[in-house]
Amino acid sequence: SNVPEIRIYEVGPRDGLQNEPKFVPTEVKVELIHKLASAGLKNIESASFVSPKWVKQMSDAVVVMKSIKRESDVNYPALVPNLKGYETAKTCNVEEIAIFPAGSEAFSQKNLNCSVKQGLDRFREVAQQAVKDGIRVRGYVSCVLGCPYEGPISPRTIAKITEELLAMGCYEVSLGDTIGVGTAGSVRRLMKEILQVAKPENIALHFHDTYGQGLSNLLAGLEFGVRTVDSSISGLGGCPYARGASGNLATEDLVYLLYGLGVNTNVDLVKLVEAGRFISNFLAKPTESKVNRALGDR
Ligand code: HMG
Ligand code: MG
Repeated sequence: SNVPEIRIYEVGPRDGLQNEPKFVPTEVKVELIHKLASAGLKNIESASFVSPKWVKQMSDAVVVMKSIKRESDVNYPALVPNLKGYETAKTCNVEEIAIFPAGSEAFSQKNLNCSVKQGLDRFREVAQQAVKDGIRVRGYVSCVLGCPYEGPISPRTIAKITEELLAMGCYEVSLGDTIGVGTAGSVRRLMKEILQVAKPENIALHFHDTYGQGLSNLLAGLEFGVRTVDSSISGLGGCPYARGASGNLATEDLVYLLYGLGVNTNVDLVKLVEAGRFISNFLAKPTESKVNRALGDR
């Protein structure tokens, strides 16, 4: 096949669980991470070192990071909002952190309690320290295709933030459609602007499937040469500060699509479906992954 490899960046244990109202016990989080690794996923965002006053669900980040049995070829990144979170992440020997400025002012206030500029200044300090310490830094931009409070956001604004994140040492910037309002059309308009400031190999796509556009948005983005895709097991996910946001593009659906495109993911779809059922059953809700549903109904 002439389709290059795609790097899947699983966000289920973090994005997938952070919005769940009932606390998921640490051992369930850890077991989920183990199942995802044994299905063949190589990048598993496992926790976030944010304020427990803001996101209670992630308040066991230290125990999660210290409890998982790390495979040597698996990357277990975690979200960090400030230097305080960074220091805690370091005590857990985290090898990669993710910083997450917002693409819109209103969302920055709701999610980080500061302006976009203040957020970037804060994250720059974190990134510079991490680079010094030899810890990889990934950047997210949220609300890249729309903000729950401000509506559409200009692609130019997102490109500027992307440029700043790369300049502060991020090896990659993940473009987050936090509330899942984008379409293939708005993805194309965004990507044209992004490629003015970044190479496609330094960009990742992070789509939420609120309006059912996740897979077609993804195909639109891949046409520009992007090779890293974020997804969440069973389609779990959502940000507590983004009203109306639903889950991420489901990892099972992504892997199924990639099989169809002839991309070798080295992911075992049967094991992935089992991991999806494990967490959906625990949360006592139906899976958001159509592939999981189709295979499960057999
Ligand atoms: P703040 O209230 O302005 O911060 O929140 P503060 O410095 O005034 O601290 C308030 C309290 O939190 C203090 O405790 C701090 O010590 C504590 P007190 O003195 O009152 O007892 N605190 C911390 N504790 C543990 N770890 C920390 C930490 N920092 C402060 N790191 C802050 C500012 C940034 C901390 C807060 O707004 C926050 O944690 N926000 C994170 C919200 C979040 O996690 N959102 C979801 C992730 S983003 C997302 O999902 C989008 C994404 O998926 C991409 C996409 O979909 O587009 C990435
Ligand atoms: Mg997200």
